[in-house]
Amino acid sequence: MDAKLLKGMNEHLKLEFKASHEYRAMSVWLSANDLPGFATWMRQQSADELMHAQKFIDHMVERDQKAVLPAVAQPPSSWKTVEALCTHVLQNEQAVTASINNLYAMAEAAKDRPAIVLLQWFVNEQMEEEAAARAILGRIRLGGTTGVGLLMIDQELAKGAMPGMPASPDAGGAQ
Ligand code: FEO
Repeated sequence: MDAKLLKGMNEHLKLEFKASHEYRAMSVWLSANDLPGFATWMRQQSADELMHAQKFIDHMVERDQKAVLPAVAQPPSSWKTVEALCTHVLQNEQAVTASINNLYAMAEAAKDRPAIVLLQWFVNEQMEEEAAARAILGRIRLGGTTGVGLLMIDQELAKGAMPGMPASPDAGGAQ
């Protein structure tokens, strides 16, 4: 595999693990603040990020390339508001998208078809993840930064009634 692309994939792992770690910490904070729907969403997202990291690891290993796991910093344990938390989620996803696009350009330059196929999956996935984060943030800004409005959004998330949600509070798995 092209050396720059391999290095880029290994660097990208850090973004996925960091997101997973942060989303799990967010889930803990949301549970402690009586928002089980939001907590389930974040727990599911945390599991998805680990799956994303594993997809890159599997790709490198299958091609006999060296995958190197990154150190991951301790995530924040509290947020000022749910809106601030969701804004951070959207920013995380935008950073991941930028990294995926960068990897895609490298794979194209190297004419690396297996990597292009892998990255195509991620291009679609990132579009969905950004859309979900933007939709939830939009609803919070419309009417739910605190109180009853926020509780209503939490119930929607608990029912899986929003994009990117598991079908039920239990569908996030016991990760
Ligand atoms: Fe794996 Fe949400 O980016």
